[in-house]
Amino acid sequence: MKLKELIENRYSVRAYLPHAVEEEKVNYILECARLAPSACNLQSWKFYIVTTKEAVSKVQESYNREWFKTAPMHIVVCKDVSVSWKRTNTDNKDFGDVDAAITAEHICLATAEVGLGTCWVCNFDPVLLKEALRLPENIEAIAIFPLGYIDTEKSLLTDKKRKLLSEVTERL
Ligand SMILES: Cc1cc2nc3c(=O)[nH]c(=O)nc-3n(C[C@H](O)[C@H](O)[C@H](O)COP(=O)(O)O)c2cc1C
Repeated sequence: MKLKELIENRYSVRAYLPHAVEEEKVNYILECARLAPSACNLQSWKFYIVTTKEAVSKVQESYNREWFKTAPMHIVVCKDVSVSWKRTNTDNKDFGDVDAAITAEHICLATAEVGLGTCWVCNFDPVLLKEALRLPENIEAIAIFPLGYIDTEKSLLTDKKRKLLSEVTERL
């Protein structure tokens, strides 16, 4: 499948079947994340793979939505603030969020490619998630990716509502 086709077909999935996801598919998705570019190639990300029943339900407490509880597993993308590149000599901006976001999109596209579904989730309770994953001080959770087979009866591809290119571009 061409990249644009994959981008067009991917959508946020908010209904999953309970089946476990094969380890080789999870590893393929993680490998696509690992190969992402990053500022100064510092690779400031950390991925938490959440598959045990106990850990999955703890993560689900941090984002209390019924659809989220249908996912059999989660990948949590984090940044390591002790590793991420800070823009020097100007504003010290931390690019760890940007690094993490690139891996996150690789995760979304790779998930769609292997016939699974996910949904980028940022509106979680950061305190509950930090406790659930027992994150050390230097690790910050950026996004949760529920992962699973799509319950196609409940989750359908909707129209891609996007602004026109002319609305989001400036040509100089
Ligand atoms: C940074 C970011 C944060 C998001 N957080 C959430 C979230 O907390 N909960 C949720 O249901 N969807 C979340 N989404 C999914 C968006 O709502 C979704 O991508 C957008 O509406 C476009 O729909 P599509 O992904 O189906 O094309 C998030 C997406 C991004 C990129």
